[in-house]
Amino acid sequence: MSVAVVLPAAGRGERLGSGVVKALRELAGEPLLLHAVRGVRAVPAIGCVVVLAPVGLVNDMAVLLSPYDVVVVPGGDDRQESVRHGLRSLAADVDLVLVHDAARALAPVSLFEEVIAALRAGAEAVVPVLPVADTVKRVVGDRVTGTVERTDLRAVQTPQGFVREVLEKAHAQLGPPATDDAALVERLGRTVVTVPGSEEAFKVTTPFDLLLAETVLTRRARGR
Ligand code: CTP
Ligand code: MG
Repeated sequence: MSVAVVLPAAGRGERLGSGVVKALRELAGEPLLLHAVRGVRAVPAIGCVVVLAPVGLVNDMAVLLSPYDVVVVPGGDDRQESVRHGLRSLAADVDLVLVHDAARALAPVSLFEEVIAALRAGAEAVVPVLPVADTVKRVVGDRVTGTVERTDLRAVQTPQGFVREVLEKAHAQLGPPATDDAALVERLGRTVVTVPGSEEAFKVTTPFDLLLAETVLTRRARGR
């Protein structure tokens, strides 16, 4: 079965707050996107890779990624739209699709392999999850209105893996936007299964996450 990756990298990175798009922010001297693509390309089972770039940066990103075998196409106004553009760019022979945020640039090869293994074992949708460490409360204004039972909560990461036709059907539905692709598959009433996530697959969102990412890279360079 042929495996493709859709890599959304078309966001602005407003929470990083530097004016530079997140995918081009430097991490250990290289753009975040380069780290992300290198990680994906280190997975032997992955064939075609489609990168979603901000509309004005398609050429720049294609040049940056020219040493790697990837296709760069324009993203959309939100993440979901970017993924849709990616799905439209896939070759006809692709059976399985992983959707992976470029912002999770340090997701380890083993995580991709676990997601692919779960798909090959018959799952139609797979998400990596971690337990929620903090207590979670509902708050209105500055007032606590409740505490959420944490035992069955999970924080969800990418890569999320799908049987191509299930993901395409999920994205073809009309409905409110979703913050991940699995939520659209859930709306179809299809089963989404979990695999253990990885702390290293955290999403670079705020400046603090860049510090963490630098530390992870330093540790990797030292062989852990
Ligand atoms: N993304 C995308 N197209 C968009 C918006 C987001 O491809 N229109 C991508 C981002 O590039 C990122 C991933 O979706 O790799 C997850 O989004 P997020 O972490 O929210 O990144 P940004 O939207 O760039 O950041 P912010 O929300 O802080 O602006
Ligand atoms: Mg965003």
